[in-house]
Amino acid sequence: MNFMSPVMVILFLGSIAVTILPGLAIPAPAPAPTSYTFLQDCAAKLGDCGYEVYLGVFNNGTVTDKCCIALVATGKECHDGLVDHILTSAGFKGNATEILERSEQVWNGCSVPPASFPLSFKD
Ligand SMILES: *[C@@H]1O[C@H](CO)[C@@H](O)[C@H](O)[C@H]1NC(C)=O
Ligand SMILES: *[C@@H]1O[C@H](CO)[C@@H](O)[C@H](O)[C@H]1NC(C)=O
Repeated sequence: MNFMSPVMVILFLGSIAVTILPGLAIPAPAPAPTSYTFLQDCAAKLGDCGYEVYLGVFNNGTVTDKCCIALVATGKECHDGLVDHILTSAGFKGNATEILERSEQVWNGCSVPPASFPLSFKD
C-alpha cells in the first residue's frame, strides 16, 4: 500500500465506489483530463489515507486522526475534487446529495480547531 502510484489510487478509489455503492456501472475512463493531474496530486498527498477517507465518505467509515490531518493538509479543493471525481465518473447512480453531505461532515469533522483536537492518535 505504501508505494501505490497516484493513478492507482484514483483507480482504486473508483473501484471502491464500484464495490460499495449500489447500482454502479462499470467504470469509464476519467472524462476530465484538465483536472486529472490535479487529482493525481491530491491522491498522492493522501497516500494510504485516501482509501480510509473515501470509505468514510461513501460508506460511513471512520476516519482516524492521522488521516484527518492528511486530509486537511491536502486542502478542501482536493477533497471536493476527489469526491466529485468519484461522483461524476464510473456511472455513479447513488444519492449524490447524501454523499456530498457526508463529504462535508467528514471534512468538518477533520478540520476542527487544534484546541479541540483529540490528543490521542490511534493508528
Ligand atoms: C450512514 O450513517 C447515517 C447516520 O448514522 C445513516 O442515516 C445512514 O443510513 C448510513 N448510511 C450507510 C450507507 O450506512
Ligand atoms: C437523496 O438524499 C436526500 C437527503 O437524504 C433526500 O432528501 C433526497 O430525496 C434523496 N434523493 C433521491 C433521489 O433519493
